[in-house]
Amino acid sequence: MNGGAISRRSLARLLARSGFVAANEEAAELLRAAAGDGVLLRQMLERRLTGEPLPWVTGSTTFAGITLRVCPGVYVPRWQTGPLALAAAALLPTRGTGVDLCTGSGAVAAVMRRHRPQARVLATESDQAACACARANGFDIEVYEGDLDEPLPAELRGRVDVVAVVAPYVPSREIQFLPRDVRLYEPHAALDGGEDGLCVLRRAVDAAGRLLAPGGHFLTELGGTQDDMLATGLARAGLEVVDRLVDDEGDLRGLVTRKAL
Ligand SMILES: C[S@@+](CC[C@H](N)C(=O)[O-])C[C@H]1O[C@@H](n2cnc3c(N)ncnc32)[C@H](O)[C@@H]1O
Repeated sequence: MNGGAISRRSLARLLARSGFVAANEEAAELLRAAAGDGVLLRQMLERRLTGEPLPWVTGSTTFAGITLRVCPGVYVPRWQTGPLALAAAALLPTRGTGVDLCTGSGAVAAVMRRHRPQARVLATESDQAACACARANGFDIEVYEGDLDEPLPAELRGRVDVVAVVAPYVPSREIQFLPRDVRLYEPHAALDGGEDGLCVLRRAVDAAGRLLAPGGHFLTELGGTQDDMLATGLARAGLEVVDRLVDDEGDLRGLVTRKAL
């Protein structure tokens, strides 16, 4: 790269030549984040060309209609999770209590708060950097560092209206098939769900069983046949499947369940 200004078109061309499929959108995003600072733009472009996630480079992403800060080292919320976040918000009563387990940057919790500004929303996360990122995103979310429901105030047990989780759910042996940049950059603990992908999620189901009030809802992202594999755990926690979230290809993306009355 030389020292002159970079136009949007040449930036997009460069990104396309380097294999970025959404080159036009990425060029626009980089230019917006650089805000006219040519040196910064070049630094950001160099980082992006290594495969570093765009939201880490620009500092933010759009998720389910809201702008979120995503700090380097923190899992990038996926647009495919948007419907689950919106479903969780829709099920949360106006002045209810919602919990987002494994919150990462705070994405699902932030959507709940945006749609239910009078509700109490709490979030937990085991990674310190992600907790800091979720707190920096604001939205008046109470962020607790620790394992699943363990750090939450004890008085919440049996009183929560909505529990949502996007846990790591990729089976360990399938991590190798994820895109190179995801494997290289994104935190392993955000992706690897153990032998069958459900090591964290099974415990999240138990946590939801403890937290939810009768009639409360638990929503989780998952894939493949993980719904069948989770059926026994859901039944043990008193959770009945009331809806299935599927993508445009008809593939299962998540479950909405309800705690027995
Ligand atoms: C797939 S990411 C999802 C993040 C966020 N919910 C989202 O959709 O953007 C999973 C997150 O769970 C966190 N995590 C993994 N195991 C956890 C545990 N036992 N308790 C709390 N958080 C955990 C990881 O650090 C990571 O941030």
